[in-house]
Amino acid sequence: ANPVVAIVGATGAVGVELLRCLEARNFPLSRLRLLASPRSAGRTMTFRGEAVEVEALTEDSFEGVGLALFSAGSGVSKRYAAAAVKAGAVVVDNSSAFRMDPDVPLVVPEVNGAAIARHRGIIANPNCVAAIATVALAPLHRAHPIRRLHAATYQAASGAGAAAMEELRESTAAYLRGERFEPRVLPHPYAFNLFSHNAEMDPETGYNGEETKVVAETRRIMGTPELPVGITCIRVPVLRAHALALTVEFGEAVPVEEARALLAAAPGVKLVDDRARNHFPMPSDATGQDDVLVGRIRPDSGDPSGRSLCLFVVGDQLLKGAALNAVQIAEALLPR
Ligand code: A2P
Repeated sequence: ANPVVAIVGATGAVGVELLRCLEARNFPLSRLRLLASPRSAGRTMTFRGEAVEVEALTEDSFEGVGLALFSAGSGVSKRYAAAAVKAGAVVVDNSSAFRMDPDVPLVVPEVNGAAIARHRGIIANPNCVAAIATVALAPLHRAHPIRRLHAATYQAASGAGAAAMEELRESTAAYLRGERFEPRVLPHPYAFNLFSHNAEMDPETGYNGEETKVVAETRRIMGTPELPVGITCIRVPVLRAHALALTVEFGEAVPVEEARALLAAAPGVKLVDDRARNHFPMPSDATGQDDVLVGRIRPDSGDPSGRSLCLFVVGDQLLKGAALNAVQIAEALLPR
């Protein structure tokens, strides 16, 4: 029989996309349960043309559930994932709670899908930047091992949740009306502005929590625990697609044409690299798309050794960066 599937955090930015991905991909399930905070209990959401009522999450929510997709923050995952596993569910967790736990696979199916089989009840869905970056890096890395990576990110509001997306809309509207807007969700003015990622800053290292996660998770997913990675994460006033400028050093020079061919053939990647028309990956193109867009492939003019390439990568934060990747993991768990 098809499993009962629960979405924990169903009303959130990612939760809504989880529901849509299950629907769009025709995921085989016998019943969908929607769980959120008591604030949302009684609300309904539409799945396959039918209204499904949102229930308040409790420890007893998981009876009969075979698959639980968690996306309600790491506090909720830490508190309730064990109850789901105890009830017999496999948990695919979108939070950072278990991503570095050696007993929990951290998976991007196109990159390290084989790790799914080693799960003991919980599989972690990566940080959105790590998921999007590794989809683009893995096909290159398989042909030419990567020696060093540098990333600058341009991250959308959706990574900070539905309330941050709303703040971007509202503050932009207020700005255009010439009104003052007091930020409530994010620490700085967002309209017509950008700022260093709002994750907690480590005053000792100068890196914020987002940067630390991306580095650790990229290494883990790629299976390169020692890979030197430099990174700067920036929040930009875009609703839901993250952009990444990557500089990738290989052990030898990799011709641009070869990199293009590898990326064009890679699953989950769409090459958008039209120099003649100056058309490269953009959030407006990536929004709502499953594929990660990759372009601006060129030798790094800042590396005299000639062994580095630059790429520009854009992916929908809510899809490949979150919900789609989680549903792809769940699909890999289905009996064949
Ligand atoms: P709710 O909408 O009832 O607050 P986002 O990442 O967009 O902010 O969404 C967070 C999701 O996690 C929402 O669905 C939210 O539900 C849910 N959530 C937050 N806190 C809890 C909690 N303590 N128990 C259950 N769900 C929670």
